Amino acid sequence: MINKVVLASNNPGKVREIGQLLAGLKIEVVPQSDFNIPEIEETGLTFVENAIIKARHAAELSQLPALADDSGLEVDALKGAPGIYSARYAGDGASDTQNLEKLIAELQALDNPVRSARFQCLMVLMEHAADPTPLMCQGTWQGEIIDTPKGENGFGYDPVFYVPTEHCTSAELPADKKNALSHRGQALNCLLEKLSNQ
Ligand code: IMP
Repeated sequence: MINKVVLASNNPGKVREIGQLLAGLKIEVVPQSDFNIPEIEETGLTFVENAIIKARHAAELSQLPALADDSGLEVDALKGAPGIYSARYAGDGASDTQNLEKLIAELQALDNPVRSARFQCLMVLMEHAADPTPLMCQGTWQGEIIDTPKGENGFGYDPVFYVPTEHCTSAELPADKKNALSHRGQALNCLLEKLSNQ
C-alpha cells in the first residue's frame, strides 16, 4: 500500500490543486521541490509520454513512488494547439500571462473562430522509476475560449476558459468547484479508484 508519494511538478498551481484533491487521504504528498528535483525536459509528443518522463525522473531522484500530471489546453480553432506545449506556448520560460496573451492574439487573428476547447490531463502514478505498469488516467474538461480574461482563481489559461455549465470562467470558480469538475480532478479520482482496487 502506497502511503507517501512525490509530486513530479514545480508548477505552484498544480501542486496546490493536487494537494487540495488529496487532502484527507492517507497518502502523504511531498512536492519534488522538497528534494530539490528540477523540472525535466518534456521531450514526449503526447501527454502520456510526458507524464511518464516526469514521474520516472521524480521517482528516480526521490526513491519514492511518484505522481505526475501532464496537462494542457486544446483549442479547436487552432487545430489542437497549444496542447502538449501549453506551458511554453509563448516560448520557453513564458509566464502564464504571456501564454494567455498569445492565445488571445492567435484567436483574434482568425475570422470568427469557433470557440470550443478542452483541458486534458493525464495523471500517472509510478511505484518506482522502473515500474513497467504505471497507473494512468485521463480527464477532459470541455469549455470555450473568451477574449477578455475574467477571474482571479486557478492558474494558467483559467481566466479565458469559459465553462458553459457554470456560466463563468474556471478562474471565477471557487477551488472546490473547479476541483470537482476539472480535468485534473477527474483524472485523479479515477487514479485513486484504481489504486483502491489493487
Ligand atoms: P505541463 O506542466 O507541461 O503539464 O503544462 C501544463 C500547462 O497547461 C500549464 O502550465 C497551463 O498553462 C496549462 N494548464 C493545465 N491545467 C490547467 C488548468 O487547470 N488551468 C489552466 N491552465 C492549465
